[in-house]
Amino acid sequence: MAVDVILGLQWGDEGKGKIVDYLSENYHMVCRFQGGPNAGHTIKIGDNKYVLHTIPSGVFRQNIINLVGNGVVIDPITFMKELDKLDEAKIPYRDRLFIANKAHLILPTHRLLDAASEASKGKAKIGSTLKGIGPTYMDKTGRNGLRVGDINSEHFKSRYNQLREKHLSLLKLYPQVDFDLEGEEAKWFAAIEQLRSLNFVNGEYMVNEAIAQGKKILAEGAQGSMLDIDFGTYPFVTSSNTVTSGVCNGLGIAPSKIGRVFGITKAYCTRVGSGPFPTELFDDNGEKLRRIGQEFGATTGRPRRCGWIDLPQLKYTIMINGVTDIVITKLDVLDDFESINYCDSYDIKGEATDHLPFDLCVEEVNPQYTEIQGWNTSLDEVTEYQQLPEKAKAYITTLEEKLETKITMISTGPERRKILIK
Ligand code: GDP
Ligand code: IMO
Ligand code: MG
Repeated sequence: MAVDVILGLQWGDEGKGKIVDYLSENYHMVCRFQGGPNAGHTIKIGDNKYVLHTIPSGVFRQNIINLVGNGVVIDPITFMKELDKLDEAKIPYRDRLFIANKAHLILPTHRLLDAASEASKGKAKIGSTLKGIGPTYMDKTGRNGLRVGDINSEHFKSRYNQLREKHLSLLKLYPQVDFDLEGEEAKWFAAIEQLRSLNFVNGEYMVNEAIAQGKKILAEGAQGSMLDIDFGTYPFVTSSNTVTSGVCNGLGIAPSKIGRVFGITKAYCTRVGSGPFPTELFDDNGEKLRRIGQEFGATTGRPRRCGWIDLPQLKYTIMINGVTDIVITKLDVLDDFESINYCDSYDIKGEATDHLPFDLCVEEVNPQYTEIQGWNTSLDEVTEYQQLPEKAKAYITTLEEKLETKITMISTGPERRKILIK
């Protein structure tokens, strides 16, 4: 069996958590392949709302195995808080949650470095979630990192101290930031002790054996393709490969094992943190999208920047990811708009193009919009695609034609059941 993938096609927060939770019913295993607690995946089941940061969104379905893959970076403190929430909600996970030995650990000093590095950048700051993501991946590629499997090594504490010392010398290059290092370290070591009771596995064997046994596997991405370290709006990106190729590295599977790729996009567009966003709106429409869409970060609570859907941007990420199926989320947020715009092309120095320039951070890009009429009706009662108002269907079909990729699902609300199959 192949591994299917769910990932974000924009700048994150496309609704991946909801779609993973919805689709996971049809799978044996859900595996996170990159990112860490910078992610915030919201799942609404009945009146209960859960936000997951590191734990795969398959955890709410019984019998589904959940793996935190080697490509993920784990902060034991956040991880334990997430598990406490699952305990409170009486969601069983002990025999269904596995952590790859090769996943790297976020140390308290990684978070401190993240904060200090951002503080030193002033106006040029990336708008990081300050979860220590960048410094942890830097230590991974710099070959200094500590991994989950190292926890059981007799040298764990001395390696921790060595890395901590290195971080403390690096910190001398940065302005001082407020951070209770001793307090955070005490919490971190307590969390490490708790982490020991979980199931550590060689994830690459687990996944490949499951594939060989014909099990269905869903890989869950975090962030979005425009935040990818290679293809995103560098340097305003995260530090991992958020695109399909990241699944191979982040789980240890061959490219030939990738099956369907579900690319998630909102019916409009958002971004949280700094960096270019060609179709960002600074007018009442932007404010309205934020208000109706409740566009505030699931991890940091920051207001998200809002704008119209950007087709050149989506064509780019569909290409990079080999998307086979598009899922549109938050269509209901547009219920109240007299008219809706989509960006069809960019005007760059007087030339129309639907290609993204090398550097969106320096190139002046003028989005060219097409305006269509809104449907001005609530989608609340719609339970099947055919029941959608004609104008909503026209919007979907236009997107499908322009993006040359089939749209297979449409989400019309945060709840699990609010999904239309096309
Ligand atoms: P993720 O990071 O991609 O999992 O997305 P987030 O959870 O950060 O943000 C998506 C937000 O939109 C969450 O608050 C979801 O509950 C909500 N959401 C998901 N799908 C829909 C939808 O179709 N309509 C509405 N109104 N909200 C949705
Ligand atoms: P999910 O999985 C939206 C953004 C941050 C910042 C940049 C770098 O919920 O979609 P980092 O903490 O990685 O150093 O931040 O990336 N960012 C996200 N934006 N959704 C996310 O995750 C994000 N994870 C990171 O705001 O601009
Ligand atoms: Mg999110």
